Amino acid sequence: MAELSFTQEELDEIEKIKAKFPTVKAATLQVLWVAQRKYGHVEPEVQQLVAETLDLPAAHVHGVASFYTQYYKEEMGKFVLDVCTCLSCQLCGGYEILHHLEDELGIKAGETTDDGMFSIQEVECLGACGYAPMLQVTNGVYVNNLTEEKADELIKNLREGRMPEFESMQMPKLEKRNQAAS
Ligand code: FES
Repeated sequence: MAELSFTQEELDEIEKIKAKFPTVKAATLQVLWVAQRKYGHVEPEVQQLVAETLDLPAAHVHGVASFYTQYYKEEMGKFVLDVCTCLSCQLCGGYEILHHLEDELGIKAGETTDDGMFSIQEVECLGACGYAPMLQVTNGVYVNNLTEEKADELIKNLREGRMPEFESMQMPKLEKRNQAAS
């Protein structure tokens, strides 16, 4: 990879991020986002750039980057499918959805299709357990209550350039409390 660097604009953004936190260490998560937005991933060289920019040990930045599946440690496909196989999703067919997608795309979890369109990751709970099984597209859109048909439709739409709508979740108890307060 060629010599990496942040632009002056990005460095200004990083300074603003640092100013929000009592310690530089605490800014690591957000600065990794800046780096991932720029390079599409945070491979070791990118982690090194973040460490040097923040004047932090490379081991610290690596520890943070490697803990979260949201940070891509290698080049990924255009669409990253984070399939939840944590308990609720697992009980509701998360592994069946994962294996179905693997079969459809001809790759295993952790791999990227040859055309660079799709990567699949097996991830821990994404906080949508009541809508299991579910997956997330590229750290953003949630697709809930998956079936194999719904997964097929998702792949077809993404291939044709159509992002699905984010399927937001209702929180009934909170809604009731809010209604009572109004
Ligand atoms: S177990 Fe899948 S979202 Fe929580």
